[in-house]
Amino acid sequence: MRILSVVGARPQFVKLAPIAKAMEGRAEHVIVHTGQHYDELMSDVFFQDLGIPAPDYNLGVGSGKHGEQTGAMLAGLEKVLEEAQPDVVLVYGDTNSTLAAALAAVKIHIPVAHLEAGLRSFNRRMPEEHNRVLTDHASDLLLSPTQVGMDHLATEGLAERSRMVGDVMTDVLYRVREQLAAQGQPLPDGVSAGNYYVCTIHRPDNTDDPARLKAIVESLAALGKPVLLLAHPRLKALAETHGIDLASGSIVLHEPLAYPQLVNAVANSAGVVTDSGGLQKEAFLLRIPCTTIRPETEWVETVELGWNVLVNSDLSKLAATVERPAPPATDATPYGDGHAAERTVDALLATFAK
Ligand code: UD1
Repeated sequence: MRILSVVGARPQFVKLAPIAKAMEGRAEHVIVHTGQHYDELMSDVFFQDLGIPAPDYNLGVGSGKHGEQTGAMLAGLEKVLEEAQPDVVLVYGDTNSTLAAALAAVKIHIPVAHLEAGLRSFNRRMPEEHNRVLTDHASDLLLSPTQVGMDHLATEGLAERSRMVGDVMTDVLYRVREQLAAQGQPLPDGVSAGNYYVCTIHRPDNTDDPARLKAIVESLAALGKPVLLLAHPRLKALAETHGIDLASGSIVLHEPLAYPQLVNAVANSAGVVTDSGGLQKEAFLLRIPCTTIRPETEWVETVELGWNVLVNSDLSKLAATVERPAPPATDATPYGDGHAAERTVDALLATFAK
């Protein structure tokens, strides 16, 4: 059986890693990179560090407005799918690459499976929310990481196509954590173990309005420990455009980290401040308190279990939230047992093998 994976943005490379491994010897796996993320630190290092085979196709689509970027992917993917003739297209998460791939496939009658199905923020301002909802409804097989995701899919009438497999990012995190325990990793310059926060900010709602971005940067700069700010290209570019100095006060400005270095940096930190989805979960799995600068989260379990607190409009609460005492210990495993990728491949073979 031939399974074709489409990825394009940084979190999708992480999700692809355990899937590519679980496919070995079980299915022919074709990998397509749309080129949505193209910087070495946003793309290549993930393939190298996580042992992902080089993509069979790279569409080199790059940056652009939503319509331009998604449209270019759609056109490129249609050609690739016609040539590769997969039995199923596997799409990941909620980016423009996800939606483009789902749409390209269904239009030419190739079945689609969506990994990380059923997540909802119920915030229609987020491009990711449209991408998820549309992709779920276009897909033939919905692979959900959580029970909450399964419940959302059932509410939308998609229960019959849904399977709970667990979270593949948890698979990767467990694997990398073991490697780190065996080998260790140095921390980035400017921070020392237990005495800094890890921070990432990249969502349009936080970066695109200059007043909002300035208020966030000022709140971070005033925190009582060094803030290792791992600057996404979007953040860097917009701060420059708006004349905002990212390297002020407590902030230690740093390039994005490769995945093992990121896990190491989070594991040794006093807390995480972020608007990323993946990082909220990684902090929880490593039992590091997280503060999320958003009005809501798809990973509600992290909040319910007390390890993640949301701060949005009232940034004056940021310092007290970030510096709060650690929550009660928990051994809850809402994201699975680290074997989601095997279950994903089992479900793909059971559903689509001819
Ligand atoms: C995308 C996803 C988001 C995911 C994030 C992870 C969509 C709608 N959003 O957001 O869900 O959380 O990736 O990082 O698909 N850029 C570079 N170099 C790169 C990549 C991007 O300079 O390698 C710049 C581009 O010029 C662009 C900006 O970053 O201005 C945004 O890139 P884009 O791919 O549109 O979306 P992200 O914000 O990265």
